[in-house]
Amino acid sequence: MFKLKIISSSVRPGRKGPIVGKWVESSMQQLAGFEVEFIDLGELNLPMMDEPYHPRMQKYQHEHTKAWAAKIDEADAFVFVTAEYDYNYPAPLRNALEYLSKEWAYKPAGIVSYGGISAGTRAFVGLKGDLSSFRVVPLMESINIPFFDQFINDSGEFVPNNATMKAMDALIAELPRWTKGMQLIRENRL
Ligand SMILES: Cc1cc2nc3c(=O)[nH]c(=O)nc-3n(C[C@H](O)[C@H](O)[C@H](O)COP(=O)(O)O)c2cc1C
Repeated sequence: MFKLKIISSSVRPGRKGPIVGKWVESSMQQLAGFEVEFIDLGELNLPMMDEPYHPRMQKYQHEHTKAWAAKIDEADAFVFVTAEYDYNYPAPLRNALEYLSKEWAYKPAGIVSYGGISAGTRAFVGLKGDLSSFRVVPLMESINIPFFDQFINDSGEFVPNNATMKAMDALIAELPRWTKGMQLIRENRL
């Protein structure tokens, strides 16, 4: 079984990231052979990076870092669900990325962004570029949701339109190929 981690970027009280994230989680259940886990960075509640050593050394001092490292280390693929804050992805996601190094490496990632008229695309572009520093390979098949608020119903569920569902289908179709390929690269079996 591959392990897929869906990571929601925002931490503010009242954040809507988990509403979008839960839809991503339920959509990803279609993926045969994947065990899906949803991670809300607001729940995870990592402090600002407080480790004394470069993460490459993996000399983690704090329990929160050890737990975070174990969770990311066991992952085979990611989907980042990101808000757009001031034309970029939220700082807590950057902080969560910076905590670790090797644990991220040689793994593929889908990106789902949401926002107003921009659909979070500036956050998407920022995150996509930054992921290469962690040797995470972002997939071309992104999902960018404009005016996402209008797709949240009275029960607080995200109900996508056709365009967003098609984008999800494309991501679901690609993710297994990259996950299998990156496993070979990670284990240096090519
Ligand atoms: C600090 C802050 C900055 C924001 N900047 C943007 C922005 O640059 N572009 C955008 O489309 N929406 C922006 N918004 C509106 C967000 O799209 C909206 O509040 C969304 O719900 C934020 O995600 P969250 O609920 O998961 O925190 C911003 C919201 C906050 C709180």
